[in-house]
Amino acid sequence: MMFPEYRPRRLRRTKEVRDIIRETTVTVNDLIYPLFICEGEKIKEEISSMPGIFRFSIDLALEEVRSAMDLGLKAFLLFGIPGRKDETGSSAFAKDGIIQRAVRAIKEKFPSALVITDVCLCEYTSHGHCGIIKHNEIDNDLTLEQLARIAVSHAKAGADWVAPSDMMDGRVGRIRDALDDAGFSHVAIMSYAVKYCSAFYGPFRTAVDSAPRFGDRKTYQMDPGNAREALREALLDVEEGADVIMVKPALPYLDIIRLLRENINHPIAGYQVSGEYSMIKLGAKAGLFEEDRAIWESLISIKRAGADVIITYFAKRVAELIERGVWGELY
Ligand code: PBG
Repeated sequence: MMFPEYRPRRLRRTKEVRDIIRETTVTVNDLIYPLFICEGEKIKEEISSMPGIFRFSIDLALEEVRSAMDLGLKAFLLFGIPGRKDETGSSAFAKDGIIQRAVRAIKEKFPSALVITDVCLCEYTSHGHCGIIKHNEIDNDLTLEQLARIAVSHAKAGADWVAPSDMMDGRVGRIRDALDDAGFSHVAIMSYAVKYCSAFYGPFRTAVDSAPRFGDRKTYQMDPGNAREALREALLDVEEGADVIMVKPALPYLDIIRLLRENINHPIAGYQVSGEYSMIKLGAKAGLFEEDRAIWESLISIKRAGADVIITYFAKRVAELIERGVWGELY
């Protein structure tokens, strides 16, 4: 059937029709809320590069988790800002490290919270790279040992999932072995399987002071021009035992989310990174578009591309809009 018998506009006539026809929605069940945790007490400090996002000391992070859970959010991804950094990032696996204490505190107060930890070295190393440096290069295999220790220390503290974001080869398998050996076979791995070397991490690096002091991350993060390589990376991580496969950033890489959706059956997460967040915040502030509608559209797009889960700094805002009954009215 063709025009004039078939008229697609018939199904766009009223809001009710559009609502019933819409293929994709986003709910609180889809969202992971990232939190930045710092040392100290009573600290809630806005991050200059990410308006509306804060660094919390553990006591106030607990309040943030409570208010997010009151809005229906369930899952949190924790990033630590340690008091001290060194060459090998040793504070990343200290028993009383910032993340280990934060996880214990959150799980003690909110046992049902799904607590996920970022497993990486860049926030903890003095040089800001995601691995151990030997002869001026990132030593892959030495780094794996460190990552395994970090993951086990997070699991011991009570993390439900660990999320390695370093992009070293073989780390998912190494972490899986280490978790299983230590009695944590129930702890899942959400792998940053496909992590591009992206300009959009800029605001995050300001937030946790993790910009590399020399060079860049091109020898471990992926080249934005590559799609088939993304599939190879994802399949390797599936083979090595990853439970959830992440693509990061999300919006500039929707084709990659779709490619993985069509080729693997594991749950896929899309990470709407700091630069994606701040672009929307600053664009809206400048009066270029409506913030809430831009949030809605960007998240719907990530889901439509094939992501099951979205990691987003807008999680709390979305949950608020859902609670107020406004979310579904944005289009
Ligand atoms: C750590 C890590 C980064 C992000 C998440 N984990 C930064 C990086 O690789 O430089 C970025 C998150 C964001 O931009 O929101 N390796």
